[in-house]
Amino acid sequence: MRKPILALLAIICVTATNAQLTKADEQKLNALLKQMTIEEKVGQMTQVTFAVIAKGGWGDTEGNIDPAALKKALSDYHVGSVLNVNAHGFSVDKWNEVITTIQDEAQKTRLKIPIVYGLDGMHGQTYTLNSTLFPHNLGMAATRNPEYVKAAAKATANELRASGVRWNFAPVLDIGRQPLWSRFPETYGEDVYIAKTMGGLAVRSYEEDGLKNPTAVASCLKHYLGYSGARNGKDRTPAYIPEIELREYYLPSFREAVKSGASTVMINSGEINGEPVHASKYLLTDVLRKELGFQGVVVSDWEDIKRLHDRHNVAATPRDAVVMAVNAGIDMSMVPTDFSFYDLLLEAVKLKEVPISRIDEAVKRILTLKFKLGLFDNPYPEAAAKANFGKPEYQTLALNAAREAMTLLKNKNNILPLSKNIKVLVAGPSAQSISALNGCWSYTWQGNNEQWYPADSKTILQAIKDKIGAANVTTTTAKGFNAVENYNTESLKGAADKADVIIMCIGEEAYAESPGNTRELALPDEQVELVKAAQLMGKPVILVLTEGRPRFITNIEPASSGILMAYWSGRKTAEAITDVLFGDYNPDGRLPFTYHKSMGEIVLYDRKPTEEVREVFNDNAGSGYDPLYPFGWGLSYTTFEYSDLQLSSTTLKGDAKLNITVTVKNTGSRAGKHAVELYTHDLYASITPSMKRLRAFQKISLNAGESKQVTFAIDRNDLAFVNAQLKTITEAGEFEVMIGDKKAKFNYSY
Ligand code: BGC
Repeated sequence: MRKPILALLAIICVTATNAQLTKADEQKLNALLKQMTIEEKVGQMTQVTFAVIAKGGWGDTEGNIDPAALKKALSDYHVGSVLNVNAHGFSVDKWNEVITTIQDEAQKTRLKIPIVYGLDGMHGQTYTLNSTLFPHNLGMAATRNPEYVKAAAKATANELRASGVRWNFAPVLDIGRQPLWSRFPETYGEDVYIAKTMGGLAVRSYEEDGLKNPTAVASCLKHYLGYSGARNGKDRTPAYIPEIELREYYLPSFREAVKSGASTVMINSGEINGEPVHASKYLLTDVLRKELGFQGVVVSDWEDIKRLHDRHNVAATPRDAVVMAVNAGIDMSMVPTDFSFYDLLLEAVKLKEVPISRIDEAVKRILTLKFKLGLFDNPYPEAAAKANFGKPEYQTLALNAAREAMTLLKNKNNILPLSKNIKVLVAGPSAQSISALNGCWSYTWQGNNEQWYPADSKTILQAIKDKIGAANVTTTTAKGFNAVENYNTESLKGAADKADVIIMCIGEEAYAESPGNTRELALPDEQVELVKAAQLMGKPVILVLTEGRPRFITNIEPASSGILMAYWSGRKTAEAITDVLFGDYNPDGRLPFTYHKSMGEIVLYDRKPTEEVREVFNDNAGSGYDPLYPFGWGLSYTTFEYSDLQLSSTTLKGDAKLNITVTVKNTGSRAGKHAVELYTHDLYASITPSMKRLRAFQKISLNAGESKQVTFAIDRNDLAFVNAQLKTITEAGEFEVMIGDKKAKFNYSY
């Protein structure tokens, strides 16, 4: 009996910290709700952007609040939440001042309800100057190391809270299965298991100390649901996703994050099968609330309620749009540039188009969040939180995470690591760019204004000079991704003569959301021409890719000696790249997506049997899954050998566990880390099975010559799929388990 009782207690405790309030707070909340006018309630559901309360509106760049505008928002419109910055982030002190001014004003309102401020701390605290930025989710996924996800989320929570901000619009849980999508770098890549594991851990890390604690922030799951599935890859354009696919690939990361205690969810600005998600009662209420059991706040994305009318054209009037969204289940509207939502919702309530019960439900959730966050105890920036800003260990963490993200794609004749006693030519547009190493959400929304980066941010060129001495480094590059010098093949020729190796830094300049839309995944012609020119100079060419999605390199790959995928890995990207190139770090990142060859070859790793076989006679390109580099690819400076794959049984029954062990040996001459990945393949199923699916991974560290036995325990849930009746089930039958080059079979029965 003991165990079930303990288990029950554990469930109650988790629920108590994450979902519910203390008795005292609950009493206060109920008393407050009773006193609130309808105007005050609708105001709580209204979120405005900083420009609305800033002196000079969008023109403000210094964070100056206009007292009259603030009073209008808080007293006349009873606004419950503020978000965002204008052009760039603020210092910690400035944030503390901004939040204090806002909460002071909130204290002057009739009911003294504090404001909950929200910011996008996507890979570190984006909008506080000198915060520590970590690899974007894509790079985190490449580390295959959950410890970094947890630690980076904790550091982010600390730096947000130090700034006086308690609501983080992260993590992004959209699945990266459309590589054209401009928000691909914000995803954990194409695999469902990685996204749900890492996303769930991030949520726990943000919230698990309890939201009253100065080390925690409320998380916000983004962007529920199907945002990343846009058919043409452009931001906020239609997705057509059959429900079976929605449940198989898009929903699991959200389900896991809800289980992990997430307090808020933000909604996808797009549409699925012709229905804008902001208007979908099915997705917002039936699935999110009833099925997933989500109890927190649902916030719209930017202007998305208005857009039901003026973009999606499903609501004939702006008021219809408000009615549609609120009745579907939106609790708070990121309006955010005016008070139209407030006026329209008031009207709608008076006309009985939105029931008061729906308003009360939404307001209760918002107030619950504020009580949970301790805002009613103390809405002001906390000294204890401020002390957690900019701790030296965050820099170490950023460096280690960036190192483990580095994914070595090619190393012909072991050209890498390079000796430190050679002459290198550093070329390419990202050699002197800081923003091309950090990407979006870096001190500014787009991340492309280097003025706001910390003074000690290094470029690749600088980091290489620091590593091997400036005298050994020449460059043909200039600052500015688009500077013409960066593409000058003539100057490259001259410089190449004196170099032993050419390090070519190419990829993408920072972008976020729609500005990152692209018609083409191929690298821009000028970059391709530059690399081709370098490849004619008789010197080995190493490509360093700093990019947010797999830009095609198919035509420049064969003549490249080495290729390092660096992603957008945050503040220490340049150092991590250089450590790998010159052998101070042995790379261990693994691709979290398939590196495709071309637009016509976009097949994902968890492909179906008919994608595996290529039935054309005029194409000898190999199997149907024939990428440039497969999902999970990543080289090391040492070698690992797998042996002795053993299953605890060849039959798995009911809810039992199957233990799977494998021995991994470092057969090379230097220590290295290695992510051991376990895939399964359901041989026959009622729905065409995937050829392989990642079901578990573990990162280990091995000295030269050392062996370790790695054990995985899986059960039937790890073998499940969504069937034609939309149920997640495991069918009886034969399964194959694959780890490295080893395979074994077992049978599952009920
Ligand atoms: C983005 C969200 C973000 C919000 C607030 C929107 O444009 O889609 O991810 O949280 O802006 O900045």
